[in-house]
Amino acid sequence: MSTIKKIGIIGAGQMGSGIAHVCAQAGYEVVISDISPEILQKSVAAISKNMDRQVQKGKLTEADKTAAIARISTGSDLSVFHDADLVVEAATENEALKREIFKKLVPNLKPEALIATNTSSISITRLAASTDRPSKFMGMHFMNPVPVMQLVELIRGIATDEATFSAIAELTANIGKTAAVAEDFPAFIVNRILLPMINEAVYTLYEGVGGVQAIDTALKLGANHPMGPLELADFIGLDTCLAVMQVLYEGLADSKYRPCPLLVKYVEAGWVGRKVGRGFYDYSKNPPVPTR
Ligand SMILES: NC(=O)c1ccc[n+]([C@@H]2O[C@H](COP(=O)([O-])OP(=O)(O)OC[C@H]3O[C@@H](n4cnc5c(N)ncnc54)[C@H](O)[C@@H]3O)[C@@H](O)[C@H]2O)c1
Repeated sequence: MSTIKKIGIIGAGQMGSGIAHVCAQAGYEVVISDISPEILQKSVAAISKNMDRQVQKGKLTEADKTAAIARISTGSDLSVFHDADLVVEAATENEALKREIFKKLVPNLKPEALIATNTSSISITRLAASTDRPSKFMGMHFMNPVPVMQLVELIRGIATDEATFSAIAELTANIGKTAAVAEDFPAFIVNRILLPMINEAVYTLYEGVGGVQAIDTALKLGANHPMGPLELADFIGLDTCLAVMQVLYEGLADSKYRPCPLLVKYVEAGWVGRKVGRGFYDYSKNPPVPTR
């Protein structure tokens, strides 16, 4: 039997908020941390709004929603994790930043606490090595939006012990998700396959093979994808897409993973997708309009 009762989450962006949502809904105590109280307030408001949607659809009762929200607390200081049994790191996809977070996190943890990272691409073994407990560290890669998507990729680092893997696998099942086990290679399984396709869609746009609308329509109607690749890129966040491509390019040393210069340009412009209102589409319009 796992001893996970209280789950800490670092990073209250789209992923951290979604992870908090599903864990609180499944009955776990949750504490979320981020760099500012405003981000934390926005996160809890977003969770509440998303739960309202579940209530409207009859998938959650109002009473269960109230109980789940009451299980969530927040704080900007890492000391909030002193009694957490597991901390899931879901901060920005940047290795130096994540390593810095782990360095500061570790002195605040119980010795037996587990650590998981939601990284989309970075080496679990390398991140584990920046903590004092590589055997209690692993990858727990949720998909976006977390309350909707069924999959969680589970990734062991070289030092991850079986007790840690079993505890995280049990948690994955308890929150109603299905696990796929991946080895610790750049971007694991889903993003190793998905992100090069998205990057190729951006090249297709860059080279003028088609416009935003044509590319998304082509893949939706021609390959039966529920979302076009550029729409999906905006949904993931173009900063995250670029970070994953850079990890693939550097980690596998193969030019086929070279990030498209247009993707780089959009990120440099701050047009990183839905979360800021502009990416390959402009979300200030209803319906969103293509930006190229
Ligand atoms: N977006 C996706 O589709 C997706 C899917 C699976 C995994 N991921 C991974 O999840 C992680 C987060 O992605 P996201 O889409 O939620 O990004 P996001 O930009 O929505 O959120 C990142 C959050 O991290 C916070 N943060 C930055 N530095 C921090 C620090 N030092 N301490 C605490 N918080 C800090 C930011 O303030 C922000 O709220 C990344 O590792 C990403 O690769 C993303």
